Amino acid sequence: MQGNSRSVTSNQTGPHEKLAELVEKYLSRPFQKPISEHTRMAFNNVKQWLGDDFFESEQPLILDSCCGVGESTQRIAALYPEARVIGLDKSLVRTSKQDKVLTLPSNAIILRADVIDFWRLAVEEGWKLAAHFLLFPNPYPKSSQVQRRWHASPSFSDILKLGGELEVRSNWSTYIDEFSIALSIAGAKPQTQLINVRDPFTAFERKYHLSGQSIWQLKANLIDLSI
Ligand SMILES: C[S@@+](CC[C@H](N)C(=O)[O-])C[C@H]1O[C@@H](n2cnc3c(N)ncnc32)[C@H](O)[C@@H]1O
Repeated sequence: MQGNSRSVTSNQTGPHEKLAELVEKYLSRPFQKPISEHTRMAFNNVKQWLGDDFFESEQPLILDSCCGVGESTQRIAALYPEARVIGLDKSLVRTSKQDKVLTLPSNAIILRADVIDFWRLAVEEGWKLAAHFLLFPNPYPKSSQVQRRWHASPSFSDILKLGGELEVRSNWSTYIDEFSIALSIAGAKPQTQLINVRDPFTAFERKYHLSGQSIWQLKANLIDLSI
């Protein structure tokens, strides 16, 4: 194998000891952080792109959250031409790269936005997703950073409320194990597996695969969760 991307190292030897406590705390408390202006504008731009009648139509809506340069957004849009696909990343450096390196199909859009705020705005507007991709989220592997992982953060309830078929990928098995535990606490039935990468789906997946790392996948149906 080629490449030198380092695998995740952590002072955790398994799922965080406070995981269940954190999940239960954040599922029972509303999130109060103020919404950033740039994400509110991005949200309004997306609504315009979808058009007034979108939610009366049966067209599926897919989020590719933390999409980086958006390679996965492009692939998802090509795989599901009947859907509208929104790629979101907070890094302007990454989202602006797609103009130069990707040709996006007309059913996809990529925007700079903080997903924490975007998810909340989408929940407030009652959006329901067909699918939600969260591919290689930052692992925050130090034990003290556990609350920055999506499944142990205040945003976890928004991920659940947005619904749809959730897919998470990571090169850190503990991240996937923890996400799976958090989803089970919320009443979902996640399935996880080690995947055999042939054609990397994202820029980070390529990097990890080329350096010989294992890639884990979690899938869960969030459609009928009552939270
Ligand atoms: C490890 S990279 C993975 C990127 C891409 N999914 C891939 O697999 O190539 C994690 C991405 O999450 C983005 N990110 C982290 N926190 C975010 C947030 N609150 N809102 C939006 N994007 C965020 C980062 O900017 C970064 O591009």
